[in-house]
Amino acid sequence: MSLAHRKDSLWIVQFVHRISGLLLVLFLPVHFYVLGLALNDAAELDQFLKWTDSPAVKFAEAGLVGLLGVHLFGGLRILALEFLPWSPRQKTYAATALALSFVASVAFLLRAF
Ligand code: HEM
Repeated sequence: MSLAHRKDSLWIVQFVHRISGLLLVLFLPVHFYVLGLALNDAAELDQFLKWTDSPAVKFAEAGLVGLLGVHLFGGLRILALEFLPWSPRQKTYAATALALSFVASVAFLLRAF
């Protein structure tokens, strides 16, 4: 079987969309666990929130914002592809989605420090 199609940039975009969705799924249980601390263990939540003040965590959060941006804007492109008339500008839309998620990630970092 030829794997030549895997070099196509839109194939890579689709792959990135899948990976970003899976990484977001991994993040979700952690997020719910921390939210649960607010109900069950306020002292531990406070300690956790202090830990999140560190620069390393803020950079990781910026990465997460970027990941969500990639999945959100890329997902909107896929939905448009499915529900609107075909447009040949798919690479431009994918690049725009990437640019928007980068802007969101940097905006988060600027706000965080
Ligand atoms: C923020 C708004 C979101 C939009 C607009 C969106 C959009 C989409 C779309 C359109 C697909 C289907 C892709 C395809 O048919 O090829 C998809 C797949 C998926 N999404 Fe989302 N999504 C969003 C949020 C999330 C979140 C928060 C998570 C995880 C917690 C998530 C996890 C996934 C996963 C795991 C897939 C399957 C990926 C695959 O198998 O290719 N999505 N999303």
